[in-house]
Amino acid sequence: MAKTLGQILKSGLNIAVIMDGNGRWALSNSLNVSKGHQKGVQVVRDIVEEAIRQKISSLTLYAFSSENWSRPKAEIDAIKKLVITAVDEQVPELVQQKVKLKFFGRHDDFGSKVLTKIKEAESQTNIPSPSLHLNVALGYGGRQDIVDLTKQIASKVLSKEINAEDINEEMISNYSCVPEDKIDLLIRTGGDKRISNFLLYQIAYAEICFVEKFWPDFDKDDFIDCINNFKKVSRRFGARV
Ligand code: IPE
Ligand code: IPE
Ligand code: MG
Repeated sequence: MAKTLGQILKSGLNIAVIMDGNGRWALSNSLNVSKGHQKGVQVVRDIVEEAIRQKISSLTLYAFSSENWSRPKAEIDAIKKLVITAVDEQVPELVQQKVKLKFFGRHDDFGSKVLTKIKEAESQTNIPSPSLHLNVALGYGGRQDIVDLTKQIASKVLSKEINAEDINEEMISNYSCVPEDKIDLLIRTGGDKRISNFLLYQIAYAEICFVEKFWPDFDKDDFIDCINNFKKVSRRFGARV
């Protein structure tokens, strides 16, 4: 049964963010694109702080998509370095804040340095009863995830570990690499109104908030506005209410 708004707010919102606009922000400030990504990481820090204050249950951030591999090598290299420095700089604070960090997506192509760093970060923040679940999509694509989970379930059916009849929504969620089952609110900055292959299954009933500002200009007040607007929406989940 679908939860009421009251129940959702009590158990904490699951918010996802497509943090778009770093490149255009850099360009409009006559800076190199990597500076836009750097500024973007600082914004993440502020939004995490506010998410904890707002008692948000989970924040799921789109940091790098499966399609972003088609970007120039110099930009990808800068992003890889940024993942390492961001983890080094922010994990101690996340530990203090009791934030549980989880990366999801296909990570192998990021190389061993990034892989080691994100595993370290996950184990350092493996906190029981966290204040916030912070999930970061890295090398993630929604369609790829659906393909991967389908293969996994199919092989379990073939080996007779599960019956085809037992496949249900919960099982799909469990086999997905996405840590959250259902997203309540999806925010996209940068002015474009598209999903860009993010969380296809989990945003089935998400409210979507498109924000014109580029991600590096997005601030706590913008985030609070998105949450307050979400709270005003009548969520019917198909029912006559
Ligand atoms: C989003 O910002 C961050 C990543 C995709 C890594 P962009 O880099 O896409 O910024 P714009 O859309 O080009 O301005
Ligand atoms: C989506 O932004 C991916 C991330 C924010 C990580 P993109 O800039 O890659 O998406 P498109 O190209 O506008 O669809
Ligand atoms: Mg973009």
